[in-house]
Amino acid sequence: MDLPSNTQAHLPVPSVQELAREPLDAVPSRYIRDDVDDPVSNPCNPSLQIPTVDMSRLLDAESQTDELHKLYSICRDWGAFQLVNHGVADELVKSMKEKIGDFFNFPLQEKKRYAQKEGSVEGYGQTFVTSEEQKLEWNDMLFIHALPIEDRNYSFWPERPQGFRETLDSYSGEVKRLAISLLEFMAKGLGLEVHEFSKHFNNGQCHVRMNYYPHCSQPQQVIGMAAHADISGITILLELDETQGLQIRKDGYWVPVEILSGAFLIFVGNIGMIMSNGIYRSAEHRAVVNSLKERITIVTFCYPNTDAIFGPARNLIKPDNPALYKTLSHAEYFNRFFSQDNFYGETQFIDTLKIDA
Ligand code: OGA
Ligand code: NI
Repeated sequence: MDLPSNTQAHLPVPSVQELAREPLDAVPSRYIRDDVDDPVSNPCNPSLQIPTVDMSRLLDAESQTDELHKLYSICRDWGAFQLVNHGVADELVKSMKEKIGDFFNFPLQEKKRYAQKEGSVEGYGQTFVTSEEQKLEWNDMLFIHALPIEDRNYSFWPERPQGFRETLDSYSGEVKRLAISLLEFMAKGLGLEVHEFSKHFNNGQCHVRMNYYPHCSQPQQVIGMAAHADISGITILLELDETQGLQIRKDGYWVPVEILSGAFLIFVGNIGMIMSNGIYRSAEHRAVVNSLKERITIVTFCYPNTDAIFGPARNLIKPDNPALYKTLSHAEYFNRFFSQDNFYGETQFIDTLKIDA
């Protein structure tokens, strides 16, 4: 999930990758979850698959209308999709995958040179841990504020493997361009002016979370990443080698996602849901782990400009269709997110932003 980047101190916890190296008789109790319901696909539709959008069809005048309609209904019904023919160069994608794979393979001491510092989750470490009682997730991560450039803190950007920094620089730039293009089509799909959403993102933030989910001898007892919806505008996820683990909640069931080779997985985030006045949804998702093999993902969260004020698009609001969500500044949105009593509670963050909440 996206992470609070300031606020309270967070407690250091061990590297899960190191933990998983040892033969474990039993998983340490802090990782054992009793809040994980079984990964069941919908028995009425066991082969249900997350739909695919084709970027080249969105860009081609002849197929655009059809593909736009498809994009619209998928954002409405799923809030997530696979994106093929996305236009980000294969070479760059391949290089990004290799660099992060190499980084996680380094000895712990090398990775710790980029460790999170007190009071910030940027860097190498684990998800936000605020209490000794908090249940832990079965993953390690490298979390980097990649854009805008003035937000960068290069002390968290690995110098090794060689070329990591250049690759992440190019990758984040390309992914951001793609995000803006998708936001344009998402607005168009709702019959809005093409820049209605993207106008807030030109100098937006991109946070890249690179996740390492080790194998686990008791995969059913732990969770790689607990159920959540992203708080971004839009999220672009890349998986290293098609090792399954991502699941999306659809109609009350968890649907396992088999990401196509060469595709990105796109999530509409909470801000996307707000701007569409709830017509688009932001899909709840989670990551499970397996007993055999690690899984690595590169997840880019795209947020609006820091001076943006965003809310439901005006042209979607009609007397019989009032605004469902508040209009907020970037600062207020994050203040509200950080000041939640319980990040992992029952209440979804988006529901606290409803007009009548
Ligand atoms: C995330 C996320 C899922 C995955 O980082 O927000 O949902 O499969 N990750 O890594
Ligand atoms: Ni997520």
